[in-house]
Formats: sequence, C-alpha cells, structure tokens
Amino acid sequence: MKDSFGREISYLRISITQRCNLNCVYCGKDACAKKAAELPPEAYYTIAKAFAACGINKVRITGGEPLVRADVPEIVRLLRSIPAIETIALTTNAVYLKQYAAALKEAGLDRVNISLDSTDGSTYRHLTGADVLHKVMEGIEAAQAVNLAPIKINAVLMKGVNSDEAGDLIALTEKRNIDVRFIELMPFSEEGKNACLVVTGEEILQQYPFLHSLELVEGTAKYYAGQNYAGRVGFINPMSRKFCGSCNRMRLLCDGKVKPCLGDDALYDLLPFLEDEAALIQQIKTIISKKPAGHHFEQGATERGMNRIGG
Ligand code: 5AD
Repeated sequence: MKDSFGREISYLRISITQRCNLNCVYCGKDACAKKAAELPPEAYYTIAKAFAACGINKVRITGGEPLVRADVPEIVRLLRSIPAIETIALTTNAVYLKQYAAALKEAGLDRVNISLDSTDGSTYRHLTGADVLHKVMEGIEAAQAVNLAPIKINAVLMKGVNSDEAGDLIALTEKRNIDVRFIELMPFSEEGKNACLVVTGEEILQQYPFLHSLELVEGTAKYYAGQNYAGRVGFINPMSRKFCGSCNRMRLLCDGKVKPCLGDDALYDLLPFLEDEAALIQQIKTIISKKPAGHHFEQGATERGMNRIGG
C-alpha cells in the first residue's frame, strides 16, 4: 500500500518491550526505568497479519531490548506463520543472544542486527553502564554459528565519547563476513540533542580513505569496503542526508500504538480494533495515509526516547 506521498509501505518494526538491560547514553538515562504495557505474542501476530494484508512483507522485532522477553521465539514463530511476511529480523544488543540464537533460528528468524558502539571493554561500559562486552562478542559468534545472516552491527559514534572507535569497528569487517553500519546520532536524549556530538558518515569516510565505495545502497545504508575485506562498512546518514522520501516503514510500539514516523510524535492506538480484523485493517490503512512527509530533527528533539521506539 502507498501512503499519501506515494511511498510503498512494506516494512513494520515491532517494539515488543521498552525495558532494556543496558542504559546507553544516547537512549536517555532514565528511559529504561519507565514501564509500558507489553502485549502477548498473539496480539503482535494479529496486528502483523493485518499489516501484511496492507502490503507489509518485512518485520523487525526491536525494543527496548527484545531479548529481555523470554517469549521472543514464540513471537517469531507466530510471525513466521504469516505467508506474506518474507523476512523476519531482530535488533538486539546481543548480551543475551548466545542463549537465544539457536531457538530464534529454529523459530524462523532470518537475521539479526546487533547494536555495538565500541570494541573496547571500558568504553563499552562507559557507554552502556554494563561490563558485558564479552557477552556481546559471544552473542555475535553464536549468531554466526547458527547462520542468522547476514549479521549487521549498528554503531553510533559521538564526538569525544567513542569517535575514536571507528577504526576498530571497521576492522571487524576484515576477516568476518559481517556488515558494520555507522548511524548518525539522532536527537532522542540529552546527549542526542547535543548536535556537536554528531559524527557524520562523511567525516568517518575521510578518516578511512582505504574504504572504497561498493556503489551499493541497501535500504537506508550506503556500502563501502576495504580491499579484500570479508565484510562491508555501511553508512546510515539520517542527519546529513535525510532519506524520508524513500521511507517504507511503520512502527508498532509494545503497547499496541503505531508511530508512523520516527521523527514525529503522533501515535495511533490499535488495541480497540484487535477483535475485529476488518476494522483493524481499515484503521491501519488510515494510519498509513497519515504518515508525515519526513522528520524535522534539524529543529530539535522529539519527545519519545529511543527505548520506546527501537530505532
Ligand atoms: N541516534 C541514532 N541511532 C540510534 N540508535 C539508538 N539510539 C540512537 C540515536 N539517538 C541506534 C542503535 C540501534 C539502532 C536500532 O538505533 O545503534 O542499533
């Protein structure tokens, strides 16, 4: 289905919790303490099925940190039973990934994106509040072992905080067939609102001129690689190069509300429609038609923390 700006809406991100086991600086210090209602797996299934009837063919499970819920494999299994959904992905900080990787694969998960902003133990602890980098690295290994591929690592650099980590993150792509993608910091918390912290994709590329363009754009990312490197380096530049004109996504929050644009505070509740499939589909169509043209991050922050939205 097309929205009112002619964009084909085909991708649904489902945040299944706003709880998180980490406390990353750009998410907002108090964000993780807030509680929100979480729906049972069947409710996400009902909603995803209605979205599929409106043209969604890809779903991503996010949070918060989705793996703080023990029923993620069950959610994946239910989503997998919807024939129109071709791809099911999950975004995680990978701290609990080792214990879930096999069950997720078996339930029908296709691949994972892993949030990792530093490969240095103490910088990682400073950024996230937890001394668990080794668990993340084990999680990446476990995901590779069960072929939740291609594995993509998301990194957000902040000037003076972890901007010197870029080289080590890029080095992860030398021997491993994984993608490391740098995402420009968006204004979602006190730190995020501080525009001087933003490291643009262009700034990183200037520092690492050995990265050559693969002339490849996939979704929101533009890809580069080092000579003979096994993996790739991607750049997602929402701040320096807005890509709202080609946005194909909708976002479902854990409590059943839909957020049509990451950079807009409008929310639409689907809970009143769960019992009636036709009404649910109609409501989703109405919401898709209300998706705004684009974000206005350049004018300042939005109200909702990233922990609610899941990126
Ligand atoms: N700006 C940019 N990216 C962010 N992420 C989380 N918060 C921000 C922010 N303020 C990224 C994380 C996560 C992805 C879904 O969103 O790297 O992997």
